[in-house]
Amino acid sequence: MTDKPILRALKGETLPTPPIWMMRQAGRYLPEYRATRAQAGDFLSLCYNSELAAEVTLQPIRRYGFDAAILFADILLLPQALGPKLWFETGEGPRMETTTTPAELAALRPDEEIHETLAPVYETLRILTRELPRETTLIGFAGAPWTVATYMIAGRGTKDQGPAHALKATDRATFAGLIDKITSATILYLSAQVQAGAEVVKLFDSWAGSLKGQDFTDFALKPTARIIAALKAKHPGLPIIAFPREAGDRYIGFARASGADCVAVDNSVSPEWAAENVQKDGCVQGNLAPDLLVSGGEPLVQGARRVTRAFAGGPHIFNLGHGITPDADPDNVKRMIDAVRGA
Ligand code: CP3
Repeated sequence: MTDKPILRALKGETLPTPPIWMMRQAGRYLPEYRATRAQAGDFLSLCYNSELAAEVTLQPIRRYGFDAAILFADILLLPQALGPKLWFETGEGPRMETTTTPAELAALRPDEEIHETLAPVYETLRILTRELPRETTLIGFAGAPWTVATYMIAGRGTKDQGPAHALKATDRATFAGLIDKITSATILYLSAQVQAGAEVVKLFDSWAGSLKGQDFTDFALKPTARIIAALKAKHPGLPIIAFPREAGDRYIGFARASGADCVAVDNSVSPEWAAENVQKDGCVQGNLAPDLLVSGGEPLVQGARRVTRAFAGGPHIFNLGHGITPDADPDNVKRMIDAVRGA
């Protein structure tokens, strides 16, 4: 039996104070993160150094007492484990060998072989199960197939996911094959995370908003539903959070259609709208605008209270609408938490 606040909210309980954590809570806005990353050498070395990845996961828990810790890793480690080379250009972001042809798709490694590369990620989780405070929930994660595919196809981040949309239009079989491949590998990856100690898993579909109409159904909703069904069959009762970012109207009914226990919403929808249209199906996570943690002051306090109030009538996990940015002030995070907890 659990008394962890996040797990209670994910089961549908309305709590007097919402549990709270933040996307990218282990990140560059924290001086202790920057120091540990420097010790590791670079970002990817940090991801694959289980001791140091566990250390940066714990840093925001020690500093702020968040209700959840999210595994420190990246959504691009899974495609890297399938074969394509991955690196990060300083100041620019990820770069990856592209997968756009039938031959390149066929050359991806078999799903079962991902564990060779990803073993350090599972070890990070095992360390965390020993070191986290007993009230803190451990969240594992992966990218949703569409979002991962956008990076595999373009070889980098893109504003409009143009290369992925182009492949979808010109060679639908290869595109759909890539989505299937990522889907099956993600099931194995998340299942191994659960075996290593993740109590909740979250699927990040950061670019879901650029899929429209039937494409959203086919490539955002259906792969997510397939992953969730497979994980729930293997791990009965496992709570799952889905984040189809910028889905807009497609947030409505997403929990039921995908099987997710909680839908995370971004800040392009208002908390009042999400409370009315999304929370009626269960737990919602979100959705304070991350820029308020840069600017701070009274708008931050009012914004945090507004989100808390809007979702107070149902199950809610307080979070940002997207990741905290490197220029955020660490003291503002404390002010946000105090505003939510009513201190
Ligand atoms: O939330 C957490 O604290 C857990 C760790 C985590 C990271 N990335 C660490 C990270 C998680 C859950 C992610 C998810 C992720 N990674 C997403 C989906 C969520 C989102 O933000 O939309 C995406 C698209 C990626 C891919 C990625 N990783 C990009 C595009 C970048 C470069 C942009 C940037 O912020 O620098 C990263 C790098 C990255 N991933 C950093 C961190 C802490 C910064 C790297 C650094 O320390 O230099």
